[in-house]
Amino acid sequence: MAGHDTRAQQTPAYVLHPDLKSARARRLPEHGLAEATALAAALPGLDVVGGEVVRLSKLLPGTLFGTGKVAELKARMHDLGAELVLVDGPVTPVQQRNLEKEWGVKLLDRTGLILEIFADRARTREGVLQVELAALSYQRTRLVRAWTHLERQRGGLGFVGGPGETQIEADRRAIDDQVVRIKRQLDKVVKTRELHRASRRKVPFPVVALVGYTNAGKSTLFNRITGAEVLAKDMLFATLDPTMRGMELPDGSKVILSDTVGFISDLPTQLVAAFRATLEEVLEADLILHVRDISHPETAEQAADVADILTSLGVKSDTPQFEIWNKLDLVTESVRAQLEQQAEKSDRIFALSAITGNGIDRLLAAVSKVFEAQKSEAEFSLDFSKGRAHAWLHSEGVILSETLTDTGWDLKVSWTERQKNSFAAL
Ligand code: GTP
Repeated sequence: MAGHDTRAQQTPAYVLHPDLKSARARRLPEHGLAEATALAAALPGLDVVGGEVVRLSKLLPGTLFGTGKVAELKARMHDLGAELVLVDGPVTPVQQRNLEKEWGVKLLDRTGLILEIFADRARTREGVLQVELAALSYQRTRLVRAWTHLERQRGGLGFVGGPGETQIEADRRAIDDQVVRIKRQLDKVVKTRELHRASRRKVPFPVVALVGYTNAGKSTLFNRITGAEVLAKDMLFATLDPTMRGMELPDGSKVILSDTVGFISDLPTQLVAAFRATLEEVLEADLILHVRDISHPETAEQAADVADILTSLGVKSDTPQFEIWNKLDLVTESVRAQLEQQAEKSDRIFALSAITGNGIDRLLAAVSKVFEAQKSEAEFSLDFSKGRAHAWLHSEGVILSETLTDTGWDLKVSWTERQKNSFAAL
């Protein structure tokens, strides 16, 4: 972008990962902090200057952290010149107000941060609307509580509401109006998308969906397989809206590959609901490729999260799923050998590197096989006058056997739904 200053003003940010001692944590707090830091770094404009795990014995309703801790953190953030603090967990509006006042910095909690990132990455009209909707519902709950102690009476004109209407009610109503407007727009967008989908369904190619934890390497694998230029950066959420692309498998058959938004742990429920439509493509998939960063210390927990979300989305249990153990180039030689051996024992696990391309052939061959298995067989006779149809069957390579008769050919074929339909239309 010539002439455009990409080094816009960066806000120095500090990351806090509260670790509640009583909570039976599945994950190490240090990994939680690392993920939160990566999330913050994914947001343009933020410059993470530091971060720490804050151990808590209980959550204080007023300031979240105890008085001593609040003062200690204030000094540290002040020394580093932080202007924004990211608290990796839920923060109530009251806690937010108190901490912002005490620390003299702006505070963002986990949901707020994820919303910011989603907003930054939304690329389709639907994505943008979904994010706005989620942001409004988040704002509405905060508004309600944030205003309780300083409700203002709206005086005077009164055309916004009846006499005595409070500011909070007016604000809430304004948000509700906006929500209605966005929902109406979304309905329209969804209808258009369904039309597209219906027209795509007329070309009955199987759909293969890539899913996985954020940063697992979905976009990189997608690019590697299709040669498409989907944004792949070392940033979380590089993909927000599903991207679809047709591709040819080694056996010549065609499938549609769909790249989806990455999952993260503890995705706020309001976001899961808002992004359901974005992930609907996964529900239609004929094959799901679950991409895992096998080099990540918490790869098992991440995989469990993804499995949970897929179940909650309503993915059919009979949809075939492959596991992709990606980033094999990042583990040591001996671990790699071990993983490869383990993967090869299963016909559903593929150890590979999307960066080097190692192991991708085995995956593609297996994908072909899945759809091969979905082929059906048929037997029929063709008259000599149907020479063109006969030639087409040969060019598609679907003929299993053929016998010449007095009037034409007796044929046995194995074909996909698409080939069967195309033949019927000849
Ligand atoms: P989200 O969009 O956040 O869901 O991420 P994603 O799963 O699409 O991940 P993406 O493809 O953007 O990759 C994330 C980072 O991992 C990038 O820096 C990639 O270059 C890197 N990466 C992906 N695959 C590999 C791999 O096989 N080996 C190595 N070393 N790095 C990889």
